[in-house]
Amino acid sequence: MRALTTTRFGPPEVLAVREGPDPVPGPGQVCIRVQRAGLNFADVSARVGLYPDAPKPPMVMGYEVSGTVLVLGEGVAGPAVGTRVLAMTRFGGQATHALADAKYVVPLPEGMDMDQAAALPVNWLTAHHMLHRVANLRPGMTLLVHMAAGGVGLAAIALARAIGGVTIFGSASASKHAVLREAGVDHPIDYRTQDYVAEVKRLTGGRGADLVLDALGGPEWARDTSVLAPMGHLICFGWANATTGESRNYLKLVAGVVTMKRWNALDLMGKNITVSGVNVGELWGETATVRATLDALMALWGEGKVRSRIDAVFPLAEGAAAHRRVHERKNVGKILFDCA
Ligand SMILES: NC(=O)c1ccc[n+]([C@@H]2O[C@H](COP(=O)([O-])OP(=O)(O)OC[C@H]3O[C@@H](n4cnc5c(N)ncnc54)[C@H](OP(=O)(O)O)[C@@H]3O)[C@@H](O)[C@H]2O)c1
Repeated sequence: MRALTTTRFGPPEVLAVREGPDPVPGPGQVCIRVQRAGLNFADVSARVGLYPDAPKPPMVMGYEVSGTVLVLGEGVAGPAVGTRVLAMTRFGGQATHALADAKYVVPLPEGMDMDQAAALPVNWLTAHHMLHRVANLRPGMTLLVHMAAGGVGLAAIALARAIGGVTIFGSASASKHAVLREAGVDHPIDYRTQDYVAEVKRLTGGRGADLVLDALGGPEWARDTSVLAPMGHLICFGWANATTGESRNYLKLVAGVVTMKRWNALDLMGKNITVSGVNVGELWGETATVRATLDALMALWGEGKVRSRIDAVFPLAEGAAAHRRVHERKNVGKILFDCA
């Protein structure tokens, strides 16, 4: 097999394609001949050395793949060898061959191609989990999505549209606003030139947003708290602001932690607001919940409501270019690797 390997923490050039023996599935596992693998922001953070969940280098990242079942491990009844599937992988996906727990391997429905399949698990699962499990977004509510033109942002916007009657604010660079409008954002906000707190307050007659999705972290969580409507809900699900340079910067990290918003229970109570944290990577053992969400997403796919915008597909050998595209915030939607 060939695998995109993070040889050590550092800039994109630390990525290299390495060859090794094909992996052998253990009990309960499936080996997949990968066609496409998703690239996520977490992979970039991991390469820099800022993603605590990731294995130590040399490591192969990759949480999601599409391909065909090659070998079944002991005790696995299916999907049968040769079945076209998508799968969640806990690392190791960005390779020609990947191992996945059978419980997170899903046969592809009619019409789902390998690009759409590999783009589905992380972005859509995260967005669906936040809107429908952690929050209870309903018609008539207002939603503020940060990083709105990214993979999770666009998935959250599509799922909010599927609920119907939700007013959506999306923060992104101005160059991405046309895409946001097309996706269904009512009010795109250019966070580089506009104060999103003032904008959302203005557009809601001073009330604020019912639900805010924020993976920026750092100083934004304090600002998000101030933009919440009564009974509003902030979901913190990442700290992208920590991944600024190409290498780990401890000083910036410490400064970020020190200035990070800390909530006081009395304050939350007094303001009638909720703050939640989400990390789907840490829900691996919650099989019933994760499978239920995956099944809900497959049903929404059937209704035409789950479709990913594919930004680019890179060969594994161009791992550094793919990482740079994410790091430099050029992508609009999903970046995939061609692992065929
Ligand atoms: N907790 C979880 O379970 C979970 C799961 C998946 C993803 N996440 C997190 O969700 C976030 C978004 O992931 P994604 O895959 O949707 O990302 P993505 O597709 O790479 O999109 C990121 C976009 O966000 C915008 N952005 C604004 N401020 C940024 C900043 N400080 N750093 C980087 N980008 C910034 C950029 O567009 P503009 O040009 O508009 O600035 C960028 O293109 C990441 O922090 C990721 O770690 C968390």
